[in-house]
Amino acid sequence: MSCHNGSELQVFSSSGQLFLQPFWDRVKTWEALTRSPFFPVVFSITTYMGFCLPFVVLDVLYPWVPALRRYKIHPEFLPSALQLLPCLGQTLYQHVVFVFPVTLLHWARTPALLPPEAPELLELVRHVVFCLLLFDTEVFVWHVLHHKVPWLYRTFHKVHHQNSSSFALATQYMSIWELFSLGFFDIVNVTLLECHPLTILTFHVVNIWLSVEDHSGYDFPWSTHRLVPFGWYGGVAHHDLHHSQFNCNFAPYFTHWDKILGTLRLAPLPARLCGCDRCPSDQGLRCILHLNQEKNT
Ligand SMILES: *[C@@H]1O[C@H](CO)[C@@H](O)[C@H](O)[C@H]1NC(C)=O
Ligand SMILES: *[C@@H]1O[C@H](CO)[C@@H](O)[C@H](O)[C@H]1NC(C)=O
Ligand SMILES: [Zn+2]
Ligand SMILES: [Zn+2]
Repeated sequence: MSCHNGSELQVFSSSGQLFLQPFWDRVKTWEALTRSPFFPVVFSITTYMGFCLPFVVLDVLYPWVPALRRYKIHPEFLPSALQLLPCLGQTLYQHVVFVFPVTLLHWARTPALLPPEAPELLELVRHVVFCLLLFDTEVFVWHVLHHKVPWLYRTFHKVHHQNSSSFALATQYMSIWELFSLGFFDIVNVTLLECHPLTILTFHVVNIWLSVEDHSGYDFPWSTHRLVPFGWYGGVAHHDLHHSQFNCNFAPYFTHWDKILGTLRLAPLPARLCGCDRCPSDQGLRCILHLNQEKNT
């Protein structure tokens, strides 16, 4: 997988391990906490809510901060408390009533002992990227099926499409079957690959961040799709198009599967969202219009 020569890789890897070891030692002092039966569900909920919170705050500030307009995909749409509260309520309800018992069963079957050694940084990054690509593929297949088979759509996926303009807290507004499917895809490959617990946690956190970002409704210069080159990554406007048009952009994160199957549609973004007027030199962060041109070619 790597083209480094052996010794170079070794030096790099062990420094990667040294890099993460102090952090891992710190995590291990909370082992009683991480081994608690409540840890998986509490960790999931707090990560999700923690990532949603900044966007909820932005939505609250939005009417008073005109500068935010240029970053909003739908400048005229603001979720009301009547939209936020059912989402919040449903996420909490599903985690307590459905997710918790399942994680409890898993916890009872596998007493998770934390290994003394931290993972190597390079290995952690490689595993996280590889598992994201697998997750993207699995969700793509699941998602296409749940749009093409009307019964599956009506019964399991329609809920997630209730809000055509989405907002952060609508990320996990979905049927329990969809939540479990995504949870299964989230955990299956890191488990099969026997990833380090720190890798598993990192993957989960990255996964939640990317899904919240996809639904946040805000396109910032530091959004993931602007940092990943060659239009490989879809991002918020890309997923927003799926929510408004239904028949395109089925992959949650990357663009290759939709490109291969001909379901990729580029987000027609107003120049307002470009982050720059006709993109002169925006310090290496690519303008989304340029990104879209690249996706086109
Ligand atoms: C958004 O979702 C909420 C449920 O959280 C629903 O009550 C509301 O009607 C939806 N709004 C739109 C505009 O689709
Ligand atoms: C990833 O998980 C799927 C099951 O959803 C499995 O078929 C596949 O072999 C796994 N791949 C790896 C590399 O673990
Ligand atoms: Zn969909
Ligand atoms: Zn969505």
